[in-house]
Order: sequence, then C-alpha cells, then structure tokens
Amino acid sequence: MAKKSSPSDRLHELRELVRYHRDRYYNDEPELPDADFDAMFRELEGLEAAHPELSDVTSPTQEVGAPASATFAPVTHSVPMMSLDNSFDENELAGWAERIGRGLELPEGTEISSAAIGYVCELKIDGIALSLRYENGQLVQGATRGNGRVGDDITANVRTIAVIPETIDGPAVLEVRGEVYLPVATFDALNESQEAAGLARYANPRNTAAGSLRQKDPSVTESRGLSFWAYQLGQVEGGPELTSHGAALEWLGGLGFPVNPERRQVQTFTEVIEFTRHWKEHRHDLDYEIDGAVIKVDSLGAQRSLGSTARAPRWAMAYKLPPEEQTTELLDIHVSIGRTGKATPFAVLAPVVVAGSTVQMATLHNSDQVKLKDVRPGDIVTVRKAGDVIPEVLGPVLSERPTDLPEWQFPVSCPACTEELVRPEAEAHTFCVNPLCPARQQTQIEYFAGRSAMDIEGMGESRVALFIEQGLIADVGDLYSIDWDRVAQLEGFGQTSIDNLQNAIEASKQRPLASLLVGLGIRHLGPSGAESLASSFGHLDVIAATSADEMAAIDGVGPVIAASVAHYFAGEKAIALVEKFRNGGVNLAGPERSELPQVLDGLSIVVTGSLDDYSRDGAAEAIKSRGGKNPGSVSKKTTAVVVGSEPGASKLTKAEDLGIPILDEAGFVELLETGVVPGSEGVEAE
Ligand code: IVH
Repeated sequence: MAKKSSPSDRLHELRELVRYHRDRYYNDEPELPDADFDAMFRELEGLEAAHPELSDVTSPTQEVGAPASATFAPVTHSVPMMSLDNSFDENELAGWAERIGRGLELPEGTEISSAAIGYVCELKIDGIALSLRYENGQLVQGATRGNGRVGDDITANVRTIAVIPETIDGPAVLEVRGEVYLPVATFDALNESQEAAGLARYANPRNTAAGSLRQKDPSVTESRGLSFWAYQLGQVEGGPELTSHGAALEWLGGLGFPVNPERRQVQTFTEVIEFTRHWKEHRHDLDYEIDGAVIKVDSLGAQRSLGSTARAPRWAMAYKLPPEEQTTELLDIHVSIGRTGKATPFAVLAPVVVAGSTVQMATLHNSDQVKLKDVRPGDIVTVRKAGDVIPEVLGPVLSERPTDLPEWQFPVSCPACTEELVRPEAEAHTFCVNPLCPARQQTQIEYFAGRSAMDIEGMGESRVALFIEQGLIADVGDLYSIDWDRVAQLEGFGQTSIDNLQNAIEASKQRPLASLLVGLGIRHLGPSGAESLASSFGHLDVIAATSADEMAAIDGVGPVIAASVAHYFAGEKAIALVEKFRNGGVNLAGPERSELPQVLDGLSIVVTGSLDDYSRDGAAEAIKSRGGKNPGSVSKKTTAVVVGSEPGASKLTKAEDLGIPILDEAGFVELLETGVVPGSEGVEAE
C-alpha cells in the first residue's frame, strides 16, 4: 500500500480501506490482522485531526461498526452499542486519565481518585459483542452490535448458549451487553476434529465464535460450546438505584449473569497500570483470549458528565496488548520428517515479531491444510503465535497476492533420504517409510533420549546430529555401544563431558520397561499403553512375541495400539534393536507381575513392625500379588501375623489371644513361596 502524495487522496483511500476491512471483519472474513487494521484506522484519525477541513460525517471514524447483514432481521438498539477508543501504551492511557480530569473540571494535577470517582479495570475479551434484552425477567432478544445503531437478531442462537440465563429475577426492562467467546480449550478440540475430518482448521477463537453465532441452524451454534461475559448495561427500566459501574456488575452477577471475576475496582491510576502490566504477563493463564484491558470510570454520575463522542464513550478506554497475529512474507514451504516418518510442511517466513518473539518458521500441519488454506510461497500471510503455542500460518492476504503465483505442490520424495513419500489411504498425513532415513533417526534418537522416555541428559539435538554424522550411532540401540575413544577425539568433548554423558547413558539402562517402550517411538503407543503392556507381559521379549489379539485383550491397549505394536515387532529392525539393548545391558524386564503363583489366594496376612527386606508397602504388594489380603488389623479371620521389630502391641496381643500363628520374617518368606504357614501344615483357606 504505497502512500499517495496528497493528504486528501490518502484520506479517501484510507476511508475506503477502513470501510472495506471493517466490513470483512464483521462478516467474519477478515483479511488483515487486527493490528494492521488498527494502524490504518489510526493513520486515518491522525490525518483527519491534522486536516479538519477534510472532515466528513460519513467517515468510518465517525461510525461504530459495520452495517447489519441481510441474513438476520435487523434490531435497532434502544441504547447505541458504542465502540471504544484504543490506547497502545501507558503514556496514551495516562493521557486519557488526564483528559478525564479536565473533562470533569478537576483542578490541574488532581488524580481522579481524589475526586472519589475511581476506575473499574476489566479484561478486554476478544470475542463478539452481544446485547441481551430481558422484559419482565424473560430473555426476549439477543442482537449483534452491527453498526452500533442497528444489529442482527440472533435470538435463536443466543438461547443455545448455556451460561446465558433464559429467565432472571429482574426489572421491567434490562439490556445486558457483553462478549460471546469460545474458550481456548474448546477451540483447540474443535480444530483437532476439523483436522481429523480433513477439514480446514479454524483461524482463531474469535472468528470461530463469530461464525458460530451467525449460524442459520441454532443446533450448530449449540454444538460449538460458546460462552459469555457480561460487562455493561444497556437500557434499564426499574431495578435498583445504581451509582457506580462496579455496583452494576455486582448486580448483574447476582441476577445470574457470568461477570468476569478478574475485574478490579481501583482508586488510582497507578493501580490501573498494575492491572494492565499484570495481564500483559498473564494473558495466557486464562482459558479465553483477551486483546487488552478496558478501563472505565466507575462513577455513573461522572460517566454521564463526561459523555460520548459519536463513536465511543469518553469515560472508557481500551488498552490494547501487542497483537498475536501479524503479516509477513511466506518465503518458502519446506517439509520436515518426524520420528515416525511423518512429513510435516512448514512455512519459512520473513522474520516477524509476533507477541514479543521473532517467528521465522510456522507449522502448516499437513498437505490438506496447505491446500485448504491455499498458501503459496510469495504470498503475504497472517501468522499467529498465541502464548507458548507453536506459531501457525492462518492464511494468505489475498488482496496482496502477486498475479500468477503458482500453487505449492507437496514433494513426492523425502527431502532427507530421497525415498518416495507415501500417504496411506484415509490418512491426513504423508510419511517417509524408510526406517533408515537419517532425518527419522535423528528425531527418533532425540525422542528416545528425551525426558518422556529414557531421559539421557546431555543427549540433545546437536550431539545426536554430531554422533550420527560421525557414524558413532545410527539408531537408538547404538547409544549403548558408543566408541568413547572416538568421542574423546571430537572437538568439545573433555573428560568431564564424556563422563557425564556416559553416566547418563548408564543410568538410562535401569529405566522401567515402559520408558523403553515409549522411547521406541512406536506409532500410537503412549505412556499409559506402554505401562499396561509392561505390567501385563513383564518383559520386552514377551511383548515382542505377543500377537496383536493378545495385546488388545488387556486393559488400556486398544486394537489400534495392539496392531501397531505387533507390526513394529514383526520388523527385522526391531529384533536387531532388542539385541542391541540386551547386549548393552539395558533393562528389558517389567515390574513385578501378578502372574506369580496365587499361593495366598483366600488367605489374610497381617504385618506388624518393620521387616529387614520389605518396606510396609513392599510387604503388602508381595502378599496381594500372590492373591492374599493384607488388612490393617487382626481378627479371627486372620491366617497369620508377621511380626518384625517394634511390632504394634495390640496386634500381637490380639493374635496371641485368638491363637493365630505368628511368623518372623523368614517364616513370611516361606509363606510367600509356598502358601503354607510354617509349622501348621494344611491351613485351610476360608
Ligand atoms: S465496554 C460503551 N468492556 O471491545 C462501552 N467492551 O473494541 C462498550 N469488549 O465493542 C464496550 N471486553 O465488543 C467493554 N470488558 C469490556 C470488553 C469490551 C471486550 C469489546 C466490545 C467492544 C469492543 C470495542
């Protein structure tokens, strides 16, 4: 968008652009990130302020929003739904506070608090404004903001939002304004199911909420899981005398409306700044998106005397947080190969700062998503980075696409090993199926050495890469036969770092079988499935020899996992790996299993005092895993009482009184082995 020479031309162009993009925004097809729109809007405001002679009542700066649509019936708001002025830093916010002071004709330098007005600090929810109208306690209408005067009647859809009350114990007329939003977790789940169904991912929670509200079929709206925060009164007839905004919110809460608990009623501007600084840091602690804070003058009397401009109240100000979406050039699309061979396309971007960090790469998920989004190298794209979430490309800015930009094609061969890429039927993903592919091995070894698996400290990405490159390792089994003399010759490996790495590898040999299973990176097999396999079969050799059907029969392992594990161990590579682990001294055995002979079935053994070779839990486990019971007290049903040092006196006396056999630790061991209480051949189970 090159700037034109005359201010008047630029002004006209900006007005047209703002109208166009505002319209796209309200039709839920925004082409620009909010930040770019804000910048455009501000440039227009600036130009108009500098050239009052060019002012125009039809300028978008004088209006509130987009005109209402044709799909829904129009609703004329009894009290206009206004917009908010924005500030982007603390100075601008301070400027507003000063203006308020002047507007209220407070003496120069008086802080608003000393005039006992105060502020209410609220979160600026990034959703869709909604007006709810109740007559005699009944919800009669739900409407969008539209252009601020006239919105859309979306009552049927609004009634499906669970948190919005249908009836309230309220006055003759009550209009409640607030924000409809989609919780982040709900949004993520929705996107997962979109992707699984081969459908395009939704861009962000706000647009999705907007689209969900504008459904023709209310049951679709209902299925999306929308929510709502109330933050403002519209028309009110009847009800209590209210003198402050804070009290109004309290009242709404009492009537059953969800009112955001993070609001703060404060006295000083310093506290306002504290609030904004806090949420700048903590915006992602919330399960909904915010794009800033809204600061409102608390006293309703002061609000009235401050009044409003055509567009926005003077008594409120939005403080915008740095945007989490930006535009940048998509330089290229590359494909990375994961440990399972999954080929994931990702965007190589012209570096851009989004939400405080520089983004140069962003995932594109899979080939279908690239097609659905239709992003092409050379496009200007919108990039989103919310919190710790991996950056994502939302889509192209079509109005900026150069003509004849060719569509991107998914590569046919693996970029790392050049073998053909395969997309299994009914799969959303494409794979490199070459088990020796170096890219796969690299990610596989990193994963194996990672925290969720064998936890080999010091075996990170760069060392794995180096060791592969040096031919020291080719797969995870090789970690247990590294030629350390050769490592010692590598640059950057002193004796200490070698010792540390060796110790870490040594320690990993004792990890539980489940960790080893997880580390193998078998498709679909996560920690809980691995745990079930390890405890049910007890040894890697047994698992490797078990059929899919047998595995699927145990708790926590479904047919998909079972088939995948059986398939994995059917391969030669797996057999070779198991041998490398065995030779390297890696633990292949699972936890003690209850496949032990159930010699204590029906017997009840009480333990008191401490034993030399068993902890309290260990003794209990030893009894239970052989089918016995281990109650905490002695009764006439007790088969035997095992007595260690410092036994409980009452247990011992009771056992003696009841004539129950008393065993020492050696007797206990014998009992565990034979199921027979030493010295009383033929004790009958009850
Ligand atoms: S008050 C007359 N409070 O921000 C004042 N608005 O950019 C009307 N918004 O149209 C708005 N959270 O959709 C207010 N706590 C909050 C808000 C909030 C989000 C939205 C609302 C408004 C837009 C203005």
